[in-house]
Amino acid sequence: MPDKAYVITGPTSGFGRRTARELARHGTVVLVGRDAAKLDAARKGIEARGGKAVPVVCDLSDLTSVRHAAARIIELGLPIAGVLNNAGIFPNRPGRNALGWDIAYATNHLGPFVFTETLVPHLADGTQVVFVVSAVEDPERKPATMAGFRGARYISAEASARGEWQPGGSKLAGADAYATSKQCNLATVLAFARETPRLRFNAIEPGFAPGTNLGRDANRFLRLLSKYVLSPLAPLIKYWTNPRTAARMIARVLTNTSDATGIYYDEKGRPMRGSAQVHDPAFNARVVAETRALLETVPA
Ligand SMILES: NC(=O)c1ccc[n+]([C@@H]2O[C@H](COP(=O)([O-])OP(=O)(O)OC[C@H]3O[C@@H](n4cnc5c(N)ncnc54)[C@H](OP(=O)(O)O)[C@@H]3O)[C@@H](O)[C@H]2O)c1
Repeated sequence: MPDKAYVITGPTSGFGRRTARELARHGTVVLVGRDAAKLDAARKGIEARGGKAVPVVCDLSDLTSVRHAAARIIELGLPIAGVLNNAGIFPNRPGRNALGWDIAYATNHLGPFVFTETLVPHLADGTQVVFVVSAVEDPERKPATMAGFRGARYISAEASARGEWQPGGSKLAGADAYATSKQCNLATVLAFARETPRLRFNAIEPGFAPGTNLGRDANRFLRLLSKYVLSPLAPLIKYWTNPRTAARMIARVLTNTSDATGIYYDEKGRPMRGSAQVHDPAFNARVVAETRALLETVPA
């Protein structure tokens, strides 16, 4: 086993569960999730296949929990070669975290942002830091608009935390919060790649996977149809995937030792373009600056 470690958030379901198993072939996997029992099951699954895994409990919607988890990971002193920010939610009704902030924005953007910023000073030069994002941030993305998305609706980090999105958004419940939070992930990657050239910051659009638990709020019939009928067929359909196929591609990007940074990969692992807005350096720097300013309002 090479002397390397990979940190992954959301290893208890969907893309993350499969990717954690792939990563275990390359080194020790640090499993970061909110549910201790599920983390333990994931650890046992990896160990049963001869891999090594260390669970770390972390609720990404809770900044205190995020800071503790990052500190615990630093304490472990493992030779971290890659960090995968994979965990995410797409709730179909508005919710709030303990600070009263929009739950999707807090879980998908603010938590992973704090997690990454806390780890960064402790990461060795060349470490890969990858975010699993989503092409629904782009208002020009055909399959996303056909599904009812209207792209990211960013006003400011503060407005997003309040659950306010630019008018004219989607009629799909939860879509504006989700698309905006995922655009903030991509903006973070592009800005961090410029700010910290000693590390690699890259993003992945994994493809649409009907069989994961992301749509856990959908009705039971739709969930069963997605998991057992659509998911096995998904890799045959353009822009679609399933956890097995996506995990191989995600692990390939995370274990890649090339110097490429600031790259946005599609579901086949090829470079792609995001929205015109997210590629504007002034915009992605503004997202990062506003996120930091918002987070400074919360006592550490
Ligand atoms: N599925 C798609 O079509 C699709 C497309 C593009 C991008 N993505 C992105 O892919 C990533 C993975 O999604 P998925 O489809 O694999 O969904 P999933 O099956 O629901 O997995 C999500 C993971 O995130 C974890 N998680 C949720 N809330 C958390 C919190 N507060 N703290 C810590 N962990 C938390 C979940 O933990 P529990 O097991 O405890 O719930 C689970 O391990 C997400 O970032 C999503 O936005 C998905």
